[in-house]
Amino acid sequence: MCGIFAYTGNKNASKILIDGLKALEYRGYDSSGIFVHGVGNIKSTGGIENLKEKIGSNFQGTTGISHLRWATHGQPTKNNAHPHTDCTEKVFIVHNGIIENYKEIKEKLISLGHKFISETDSEVISHLIEDNLKTEKDFENAVSKSLSVLNGTFGIIASYVNEPNKIIVARMGAPVVLGIGDGENFVASDPSPIIRHTKNIVYLHDGDIAIVTPDSYDIYTLDNNIINRDIEVIDWEVEQIQKDGHEHFMLKEIINCPNTVNDTLRGRLMTEEGLAKLGGLEIVADKLRDINRIIIVGCGSAYYAGLIGEYMLEEYAEIQVEVEIGSEFRYRKPIIDKNTVVLAISQSGETADTLEAIREAKRKGALTLGIVNTVGSTIARETDAGIYNHAGPEIGVASTKAFISQITALSLITIFLGRQRQMSLTMGKRIGEELLELPKKIDSILNNKEEIRKLAEKYSKYKNLLYIGRKYNYPIAFEGALKLKEVSYVHAEGYGAGEMKHGPLAMIDENFPTVAISLDDSVYKKVISNMEEIKARKGKVLAIATEGDSGIKSLADDVMYIPKTLEMLSPILSIIPLQLFAYYFALKNDCNVDKPRNLAKSVTVE
Ligand code: AGP
Repeated sequence: MCGIFAYTGNKNASKILIDGLKALEYRGYDSSGIFVHGVGNIKSTGGIENLKEKIGSNFQGTTGISHLRWATHGQPTKNNAHPHTDCTEKVFIVHNGIIENYKEIKEKLISLGHKFISETDSEVISHLIEDNLKTEKDFENAVSKSLSVLNGTFGIIASYVNEPNKIIVARMGAPVVLGIGDGENFVASDPSPIIRHTKNIVYLHDGDIAIVTPDSYDIYTLDNNIINRDIEVIDWEVEQIQKDGHEHFMLKEIINCPNTVNDTLRGRLMTEEGLAKLGGLEIVADKLRDINRIIIVGCGSAYYAGLIGEYMLEEYAEIQVEVEIGSEFRYRKPIIDKNTVVLAISQSGETADTLEAIREAKRKGALTLGIVNTVGSTIARETDAGIYNHAGPEIGVASTKAFISQITALSLITIFLGRQRQMSLTMGKRIGEELLELPKKIDSILNNKEEIRKLAEKYSKYKNLLYIGRKYNYPIAFEGALKLKEVSYVHAEGYGAGEMKHGPLAMIDENFPTVAISLDDSVYKKVISNMEEIKARKGKVLAIATEGDSGIKSLADDVMYIPKTLEMLSPILSIIPLQLFAYYFALKNDCNVDKPRNLAKSVTVE
């Protein structure tokens, strides 16, 4: 999820663009760049400050485009930063989104003599426009012809040296808005960099292409029919926009989970063949065919995601799996042989304990893999192969959408390795089809967030809560408890439901409620009997149950329902109400949910 911003008017474009990119920094911050007509193109790795330092005072022009990168294809390097240009350095583009068919287009353009300097998918756009400028009558037509061959998502701004006071903008699946000023106009991924200049915003729709000059903006469909889009006057503050109107990044990121699942799956499921296409693992596919053991390492939520991966990989890929917390793995003496893979899971890709665990594994000659969200991060660079989550930047310290994406990625790896082994086409197809259904099912849970808020407020006075679960939802008991601990600072403990009678049951009374994940699955009856043990000690039970299970109401004090799915995928649904429960519980206790005390988003020290 990158940030794009452009300006055309009569003021100093570079100052306006740099200030505007700051407001978009929550979208991505690993590299940035700017092109201003009549002056040139400057790119830099790192955040805005680095770019600002490079731009001298005489970087003056009145039309420019700029970009803040959240890498998806290619490391965060200067060459991979945007704006990208063509062989003649006359066409400049910035892009937010993913071009899925970029490899084929790039090969064709290279065969036509084009020279590429970056590893990105986006650079094909500037060379396509260059190519079409040779045949099309004008810049507009060269741009729309180029866009017509792209598959994937894009928010694009293009600029052409020969037409200085004009920028062309297009949207397909990635947000783009216009800011309508007086003698000046703006284009951005969202209104946050614009509203300090004008409140008149035009939201482009998928398939829209706009030609913007200082005094005009005309919107067409990609097949050249002119259309009208209303101006909406918005009175939001910048912060509100960064949070999509939600009060906190944590809530925004929970609400974003359906998109996150889609983004993690995009281009990676071949449902008809029951296969998972994971480019980042292709290079070690043969080695992976011979492995017989996987050690998953991670910390915090990433560790709990790993525990779910253990159940999936053992049951559906028939591979022996162990899961380790990074800080213990690096000081133990793990036995690693040549058929053992060590798989690191990390949102930030910078967690010191997980990184050192990977380095320890490499020293012992293990093949190391990564499931990482931050492109170009240290763990991504130091592992031999892996897959990116594509979940976009996660700002809230409590991991929510990244956790969902980690489980989704693990299910893709389960299909990938399973289909190399005994998993049937039918089973691979079934898991794939059910994965594609999950975004809708998450949406239906999010539609009940008001009920979940009421329940969270009802339980918000308790200082101790127990979370119990079994099998695939055993790790969810721990993750649910971790969410509540992190953002509301109360004592919440995750436990295997079957372990209750071996100790924790002693804690139970009417002041120590239990959250029980009791879904209609292979261990349902076992969890029910554990809930009865709690009720027998006057403990209150808040159950997470499968829609249609009315019987559980007679046992539980309160119930949060979720739709039915495959047991192996049920954690992707059962954690959603627990994330919302923790969020609203913390709000009721006036906690700072986005920046909880004593915690950091990325723990880069031991
Ligand atoms: C989870 O909500 C926490 N922020 C924390 O436990 C986190 O999962 C852990 O620090 C691992 O971070 P990583 O995924 O960036 O490696």
